[in-house]
Amino acid sequence: MGKNFPFILRLRSIVTAVLGGLLFMGALTGCDMSGHQSTILTEGPVARSQLNVFYVTLWVSIFIFLTVGSVLAYAQIKFRVRKGQEDDDVPPPQTHGHPMIEMGLICASILLLVIIAVPTIRGIWFQADTPNREDALVVTVTGYQWWFKFEYPELGIVTANELVIPKNRPIHLDLRTLDVIHSFWVPKLAGKVDLIPNRANHMWLQADKEGYYWGQCAEFCGESHANMKFRLVSLDEGDFQAWAERQKQEAREIPEGDTAMTWSNLNPKIQFASLEGTADTEPEVGSYEGWRRQQFPIGPEDPQLINEGRTLFRDQKCVMCHTIRGHDAPGIIGPDLTHFGSRTTVAAGLLDNTPENLGAWISDPESIKPGNIMYRDGYVINKTTLSEKDVQALVAYLNSLK
Ligand code: CUA
Repeated sequence: MGKNFPFILRLRSIVTAVLGGLLFMGALTGCDMSGHQSTILTEGPVARSQLNVFYVTLWVSIFIFLTVGSVLAYAQIKFRVRKGQEDDDVPPPQTHGHPMIEMGLICASILLLVIIAVPTIRGIWFQADTPNREDALVVTVTGYQWWFKFEYPELGIVTANELVIPKNRPIHLDLRTLDVIHSFWVPKLAGKVDLIPNRANHMWLQADKEGYYWGQCAEFCGESHANMKFRLVSLDEGDFQAWAERQKQEAREIPEGDTAMTWSNLNPKIQFASLEGTADTEPEVGSYEGWRRQQFPIGPEDPQLINEGRTLFRDQKCVMCHTIRGHDAPGIIGPDLTHFGSRTTVAAGLLDNTPENLGAWISDPESIKPGNIMYRDGYVINKTTLSEKDVQALVAYLNSLK
């Protein structure tokens, strides 16, 4: 032990204190917590309960950090090597054991663990059981590489990549997978529970208000795991019922020669109450208003082009993998597209559902979602080649499926 030891020790303490202080200040002030997948801005009771557990743990950890840091700093300063003592190799008086301090530290540790354990266990119980099970809406979520199927067994609805729910009602989710392990996560509402082969997992969530939420597969499931996203839309009860009625219907028929298709003649029985005000404006596709807008044709439709697309969808064998109820498309390998045009995303939440993005996806799915089955087991085997005109027709057809 030479002269340098106290200096190195002092340097290490200073560096540790500065880094710790910076991290702490950063955590308090610097970070933007308002992203689409924020777990801090919660909008449902399950995410709120999870956030509460996080905060309890955080505050207990900050308390331990400050207490231990203060004692360490005090000892460093009080017992530092003073001027004139640099060459003095004699260590300060040593002590062995102190029953009061040791017992005190054990009791303090137990107390802190209890403070964390009580809300944690309460949170686990709260999240495990769907409240008001009779009133809850049941949805079966099935994970595929790389998209989500959503089935509403009580309503007879099947959809994909966009989970629509009524607000203020518990949603009971049965979680299934037909290939590998996935995980269902809507950060602002609840998360994460795994979808495991041969295991019946479940979870529940609830949304406080109307909204448009981002979801993400949260378990590594292969090449395009990071591209396995989805959206969750919560509506008031009336709008949800209207949406459900629309979803139960077969796909739209667009008669040739009908050139006056507009959103108002789509289906007069089903109107979203507040939509009329937004029909002529262009809200962002990936937003709550954008989702409402998406329930109706945007701009005039071209019935001839749409029907060309319908023929192509059959001739290019897309029908082998996709269901479009009422249009002789019975495939079950890929997402159900019966009401595809009413969704706001393409390729499982990856792109906004604009004609350009949909065209890009249909033209070259492999470059957008590497490894996807549509390309690997569809385009390659069927030697699919689509002209620009074909892509336009398919886009028009798919977007007509409101
Ligand atoms: Cu599915 Cu990651």
